[in-house]
Amino acid sequence: MTTVVPVSVLVADATPPAPLPAAACTVVIFGATGDLTSRKLMPALYDLRRAGALGDRCEVVGVGRTPLSDEEFRARLRASGGAAAAASAGDGDDARWRDFERHIRYVTGDPNDPGFYPALAARLEGWRQGGASPNRLFYVATPAAAARPIVEGLGAAGLARSADGGWSRVVLEKPFGHDLRSAQELNGVVNGVFPESAVFRIDHYLGKETVQNLLVFRFGNTLFEPVWNRNYVDYVEISAAETLGVERRAAFYETTGALRDMVANHLLQLLALTAMEPPVAFDADAVREQKVQLLRAIHPMTADEVAHRVVRGQYGPGAIDERPAPGYREEPGVAAASSTETFVAAELRVENWRWAGVPFYVRTGKRLGRKMTEIRVHFRPTPQALFARTPDAQRAPNLITLRIQPDEWITIAFAAKRPGAATRAVSVGAEFSYAEAFAAAVPDAYATLLHDAMRGDQTRFTRGDEVEAEWRIVTPIQEAWTRLPPPAFPNYPAGSDGPREARSLLEGRAHRWCTIGPTDSTDGAGAP
Ligand code: BG6
Repeated sequence: MTTVVPVSVLVADATPPAPLPAAACTVVIFGATGDLTSRKLMPALYDLRRAGALGDRCEVVGVGRTPLSDEEFRARLRASGGAAAAASAGDGDDARWRDFERHIRYVTGDPNDPGFYPALAARLEGWRQGGASPNRLFYVATPAAAARPIVEGLGAAGLARSADGGWSRVVLEKPFGHDLRSAQELNGVVNGVFPESAVFRIDHYLGKETVQNLLVFRFGNTLFEPVWNRNYVDYVEISAAETLGVERRAAFYETTGALRDMVANHLLQLLALTAMEPPVAFDADAVREQKVQLLRAIHPMTADEVAHRVVRGQYGPGAIDERPAPGYREEPGVAAASSTETFVAAELRVENWRWAGVPFYVRTGKRLGRKMTEIRVHFRPTPQALFARTPDAQRAPNLITLRIQPDEWITIAFAAKRPGAATRAVSVGAEFSYAEAFAAAVPDAYATLLHDAMRGDQTRFTRGDEVEAEWRIVTPIQEAWTRLPPPAFPNYPAGSDGPREARSLLEGRAHRWCTIGPTDSTDGAGAP
């Protein structure tokens, strides 16, 4: 057990800097009546407007199949909680939402119908002549299958080219394809229409504050980088645990599963940022180039390696926070004998000079004991046990924990002398908490990313070759699973740490996963 003490924070000025101004633009959202638009995109745009980060003439156009007038669309956003979410995140001022709403319009159309795009182009041109900005940001927030017809439709209608000196960009939501081949095909289509510099593939984890801080922590300090390698690091653990089940997304999740939903993007991004080499500059090309190099160093597994180094699971009935939770197969829309995985744990190896021999354990699952996303870098024990009288239970090697959610902090666990005549070491931790260090609220990932896209900064977006590098790691796992006998699902109860087999991945080594369940055994620093 580690004693955690808050680190004294040396923040000269904790006031967040004024947002960088974004150029005025028209944001066109495909999938406007969907959940993502009301829950994330509209509140993010509202927040940006409130913070003065949007250009004056920033207009929002929702596109959807459901026939609606502008006013009906706005009413729908209000009813679906978009306004409520924005207001509770902001100042609760309804008048401000009403003011924001005046800039929202709606266009009815079927994104699969090529005939729709010339009509959309005509509407956009009409608004431009009426004073709207010629800059256009097309946000594809539809189910994945619609991405291709939308991009092709935009291209055919001339909407991928800037008019009147303005720019045209496209933001694509994940999943970007469902395997390596489909991702390559989609990249081919997208890059045939938009230049890569205008393509913004979203991975919302890259917009999270502590994820961004990973690079500052690693490359803004001299202290950590010299020990950030195989000589000092024993193993790295990356966990993204959720208490939520599949909610109302069974149709999507049944054909996706945890490997494609979380590992193929969010977890590999966390791993890449944790392990990549320093970029020559903090810009989109330099940062993404290093991430691609790192992902390429994770060699695709053979079927035999998949059988030994990857564990999948599916939750059965259980309880979370003492409330009963149904099993995955009982969730609405899920097949009674579904073999979709809701949990994955894997040992990945980064075969490069810095990391050879260091296991990277990644783990994610739905309906686990608590919500938490964490990166833990476990260092090797000291070469000599000098304070041998220290009981084993208190002799813990150094550990750096980067907590990404639900709260955002970093802890460093190290040994200190316990007061008293005998020289005994005890593990203590210094904690840096975002919320305590900086009074300002941490911005929502979608607001950060939308703002970046409007400013044309691609640093926090995944490049085409990067997405393909992710699929090159994940596709062989998916393919090996289709050839292995169907797993004995369900194999973990809701509210637990996941299947027992996940522990066996670490067997034979002095490595272990941190506890996810409600009774955290706190094997390292943190988890206050
Ligand atoms: C999404 C997945 O990308 O990330 C969801 O599709 C998952 O299944 C979500 O719940 C997790 O995001 P966060 O930010 O809550 O960790």
